[in-house]
Amino acid sequence: MITKPKGCHDLIGLEAKKWRYVDSVIDNLMEKYNYNYMRTPVFESSELFHRGVGEGTDIVTKETYDFKDRGDRNVTLRPEGTAGIVRSYIENKMYGEPGPVKVYYNGTMYRYERPQSGRDREFTQFGVEVLGSNDPLVDAEVISIPVLLYKILGLKGIKVKINSLGDKESRENYREALVKYFTPQIDKLCEDCHDRLEKNPLRILDCKVDKDSDILKNAPKTLDFLNEESKERFEKVKEYLDELEIDYEVDDRLVRGLDYYNHTVFEIEASVEGFGSNNVLGGGGRYNGLVETLDGPATCGMGFATGLGRLIQALNLEEVQLPIHDDIELFVMYVSETEKKYAASLVQYLRANGYRVDTEYTERGLKAQFKQADRLKAKYLIILNDEDLAKDEIKIKNNKTKEEDTIGVDYLLYYLDEHLTEDDYDIPEDECQCGHKHEHGEEGCSCHEHHCHCEDEGE
Ligand code: HAM
Repeated sequence: MITKPKGCHDLIGLEAKKWRYVDSVIDNLMEKYNYNYMRTPVFESSELFHRGVGEGTDIVTKETYDFKDRGDRNVTLRPEGTAGIVRSYIENKMYGEPGPVKVYYNGTMYRYERPQSGRDREFTQFGVEVLGSNDPLVDAEVISIPVLLYKILGLKGIKVKINSLGDKESRENYREALVKYFTPQIDKLCEDCHDRLEKNPLRILDCKVDKDSDILKNAPKTLDFLNEESKERFEKVKEYLDELEIDYEVDDRLVRGLDYYNHTVFEIEASVEGFGSNNVLGGGGRYNGLVETLDGPATCGMGFATGLGRLIQALNLEEVQLPIHDDIELFVMYVSETEKKYAASLVQYLRANGYRVDTEYTERGLKAQFKQADRLKAKYLIILNDEDLAKDEIKIKNNKTKEEDTIGVDYLLYYLDEHLTEDDYDIPEDECQCGHKHEHGEEGCSCHEHHCHCEDEGE
C-alpha cells in the first residue's frame, strides 16, 4: 500500500467541512478589511527564500524542500508566503498602485521538519501582507485580524505577545550586545548556536534546543536597545492596539524565526489545555527593507500568517461547535426503475431549490436505504412508490418523530418550508430562522435567541 508522505495529512469528513467553513470565514473577514486575495506559485526559485527569509534561518538551512527541476533550475517548495508575495509585488510592479497594497493568501507551505503534533511538513497558512505603509496603525490592524478571526470562530484561549526589534540602527546595537554577551559562554550552547553567533546572533534567542537555558533567559532585551524613534513607534503601535481594545503582553524575548523583521513582531499563542508545545497559532511583524533586499524599490511591509491546522486543533480542543452541517435534509428512496427516474428529477429539483438532498445509488433494498438515510442523518425521507406517483403524490416521513404524510407533489416545497424550519430542524447557533447567517460572536449578535435583526428590519 502506498501511504501519504510523513508530516502530511489527508483532509476528510467532518474535519474537511470545518476547514472549508474556516476558509469561508476568512474570505468574508478579508472582504470586510478590504484585503484582496492573492495566489503565488507553490514553488519558487530557491534564491528567493535564501535572500528573502534569510540564509542563517533554520527554515532555509534545514527545512526547505529544495530540488532541481528537469531544466536544471534550483527550485524550492515555499516554506512561507511572504517572500513569494513580495516577489510578485515587485515583478508585477504593484508599487505603482496608490498604496498601500493589502493582500491575503491561504495555501499550503512546506517545511522539512521532524513531524510532531502541530508541526507538519505540509501545512496551510492564511496570511496577510500590507505593502507601502509605515503607519503604526497598520501594525495594529494586522494584529487585529487574527484576533478577530479567532473570536469570530469562537476560540477563547488566546494570548497576544508583542515586541519591537527597532530599526536598523537599534537592531545593530542589539546585535553587538548579544555577541558580547554570548561569546564567553557559547560553548555551553548547542552546535547550531555556534554558527548563529557569527551569522545572526538573534537566532540564538529562537533556538529550539536551548530555549529553556538560563543563558538565553538572561540575555539582553531588545527593548533596551531601541533608539528614540523606534521607541516612539512602538508606543504608537501599543496605543492603537489599546484603541482597538486588543489585549496583549509585551514579551521582550520575542524575536521570531525569520530574518526579515524589524520594529513590531508579534505572536499569538493558544492557551488551550492539551495543546502541546507547538502552541503558536500565528505570528508576524514588520519587514521594512525586504522589498529592497529582493531588488524592488524602498517599500515598507507588515504582515502575519496563521497555521490553519493548529487553529482547527485549538477549536477542537475547546470543543467549539462550528455551524457546519454534518447531516442532510432529505433522503429520497425508491425501488422500481420508474420510481428511480422520478427520484432523479425530484432530487435535482430539490437541490435547485436549495435543499441538501441525497438518494440511493447502489441498488439497495428499502430496508438498507432506511439505514443509509440514518447514516447520512437525514431529517426527512421521501419514499417513492409507483402507486402514489400515479396520483401525483409522495410519502414524506420525519426521520426523528417517524410521523408520515402523503402529500401532493405540487405541495412539497410548501410542506418543506413549513416543516424544515420547525423544531425538528436544528438551527445552528448562528443561523436565524430566516436563514440569515451571522458571524459567530459578532457584536450585537442575537443568534442565541434564534432571531435576528433581519426580522426587525423587515427583510
Ligand atoms: P511563521 O511563524 O514561520 O511565520 O509561521 C506562521 C504560522 O504558521 C505559525 O505560527 C504556525 O501556526 C504555522 N506553522 C509554521 N510552521 C508550521 C509547521 N511546520 N506545521 C504546522 N504549522 C506551521 C511566517 O511564516 C511568516 N511568513 C509570517 C509573516 C507574514 N510575517 C510577515 N508576514
